[in-house]
Amino acid sequence: MHSAALVSCFLVILAIAQLGLAGPIARRSPSCYRGGKNVVFTQYWIPKEGQHDEDNDGNLVLLAGAATKSLKSGNKVIEKVSSTTYSKCQMEGTCSLKDGKLVNLGSNNDDFQILDRSVYPYGQGAWGDALRPFTTVAANDLPRGTTLFVKELKDLRLPNGKIHNGCVEVIDQGWSFNGCQLDFFVLEFAYYQKLNLPEKVSAKVQKCSIQNFSTHNEQLFMET
Ligand SMILES: *[C@@H]1O[C@H](CO)[C@@H](O)[C@H](O)[C@H]1NC(C)=O
Repeated sequence: MHSAALVSCFLVILAIAQLGLAGPIARRSPSCYRGGKNVVFTQYWIPKEGQHDEDNDGNLVLLAGAATKSLKSGNKVIEKVSSTTYSKCQMEGTCSLKDGKLVNLGSNNDDFQILDRSVYPYGQGAWGDALRPFTTVAANDLPRGTTLFVKELKDLRLPNGKIHNGCVEVIDQGWSFNGCQLDFFVLEFAYYQKLNLPEKVSAKVQKCSIQNFSTHNEQLFMET
């Protein structure tokens, strides 16, 4: 055999080996999650009954008024709330009611359940995990537990003073959007306003270390 033939034979084997390695990863993650700045980036939080928030068109609303809508668990009424509160609970998936109940979406976007705050202090994701401020995201086209490095979050100073390392984990899904989008959990509407994050980010599926960016501030927000 000529050495050129040997080399090309070796290259073919190498190419096949690489395909074999890259195959499963490539199939699991859509190409938007490979680091190009083409992942839609939105935020979600826990609306609080009685406080200001924004509606789905971005207008400021007060989560108060005539209690015309019933938050239900199956056929059972959890609480009657205003229509602004109801649609915020639906949109964000978790909401905090004036009487202290923490309510989370259940099997569809008109079904709610009351959460045990000692187990789920910041709400619950689609697969039953506890949400964590600034490190968990919702995505509809990535498996539970996928970690991603988001370039725009790296070294970002959070509203509570912590510095982000860029690493987030998929533990939730969203009914209001499709694929190639990450919905970043920021806990508070006020935090969302302060962060003022870009509409698209560079996000790459990779192993990274999930840190704890919670402080006493976030506990206080939930307790009051
Ligand atoms: C994260 O840090 C906060 C503040 O130090 C602490 O109260 C909380 O228990 C920590 N959470 C986890 C999941 O370790």
